[in-house]
Amino acid sequence: MTTEADILKALSSIIDPDFNKDIVSLGFVKNISIQGDKVAFTIELTTPACPVKEAFRQQAEAAVLAIPAINAADITMSSKVQQAEPEKDLLPGVANIIAVASGKGGVGKSTTAVNLAIAMAQTGARVGLLDGDIYGPSIPRMTGLAGYMPAIDHDKNILTPLENYGIKTISIGFLMPEGEAVVWRGPMVASALTQLLRDVAWGDLDYLFVDMPPGTGDVQLTLTQKVPVTGAVLVTTPQDIALLDCRKGIEMFQKVNVPAIGIVENMSQFICPHCGESSHIFAEGGAAKLGEAYNTDVLAQIPLDIAIRENSDAGTPIVAAMPDSDQAKAYQTLAGEVARRISILNRRKIDIPIMTEG
Ligand SMILES: Nc1ncnc2c1ncn2[C@@H]1O[C@H](COP(=O)(O)OP(=O)(O)O)[C@@H](O)[C@H]1O
Ligand SMILES: [Mg+2]
Repeated sequence: MTTEADILKALSSIIDPDFNKDIVSLGFVKNISIQGDKVAFTIELTTPACPVKEAFRQQAEAAVLAIPAINAADITMSSKVQQAEPEKDLLPGVANIIAVASGKGGVGKSTTAVNLAIAMAQTGARVGLLDGDIYGPSIPRMTGLAGYMPAIDHDKNILTPLENYGIKTISIGFLMPEGEAVVWRGPMVASALTQLLRDVAWGDLDYLFVDMPPGTGDVQLTLTQKVPVTGAVLVTTPQDIALLDCRKGIEMFQKVNVPAIGIVENMSQFICPHCGESSHIFAEGGAAKLGEAYNTDVLAQIPLDIAIRENSDAGTPIVAAMPDSDQAKAYQTLAGEVARRISILNRRKIDIPIMTEG
């Protein structure tokens, strides 16, 4: 007779590379049931976007089928995204808040934020996207929602976020004519951002991305003061000057104890629309050097590509419009890397013994 202990023993050979521990000790194996020569169980990961999900499933299947008395395995892969600091949260249902930031404008923050958010939602995660660019909101256009108005519950003073491509989103751009917010000063910007966080029915989300305005101003300050920010994804282009600006961005978040999740090198190479050949228009390797200097990694290199821009402008982000394209794959890889690193950051905060043991 095969026992639950036999199954756990077999599965304890599988090591999660991110936590350096086996999946049994990590508590990922749940609901084991054994019927004769068949076993069923669940592996609950820390994110639906886990890049090694399928590898885990295959390893688990091989491990239990290696038990002589087991001939069939029914494995359910599930996930539960962890929340780092639930107690000090303005948004109790939101597990992770991630700033998508850069030192300078025009590097592709909004494009990255939209595609990253949608790619994350495509894995089954519950995702929100807050347009933090109060001065120059571009989320309405990029999500194909320009001209729509979020519903307002006047009794409670709560906005319902709009939804498209599987994500919930809110922007000051939904609430006022284009260009009007540009004249606001610091305190108004801070209070607008606070309202977009607090007075919106976000519901339960695994990841809330915030598309930041460029630089290190009021929005950055307000966000980090009002809510626990899990980490920042820094977007840069390969040009030296953009890298310098990115450096400032990383340092600003470090000062307020928001870790850099990693760097996205956007417009990293040009893909010729005619012949498909890729060429490095700007210097290579700058983002990698930056990563080294700040002890963080380049999570993805997104090409400078006309289809990315055209789809952005048309409100049909490329990950949604062409999910099987190479460009979409770059964003899907990015989503997996971001999710992985958030899981590691959260595990460190919640479960310090796991990291200090051994
Ligand atoms: N990888 C890319 N390839 C082609 N065009 C891009 C890419 N990333 C961004 N863009 C375009 O560059 C412009 C600026 O991008 P945006 O995301 O608005 O930058 P930011 O939010 O940093 O100001 C937009 O027109 C956008 O469509
Ligand atoms: Mg932007």
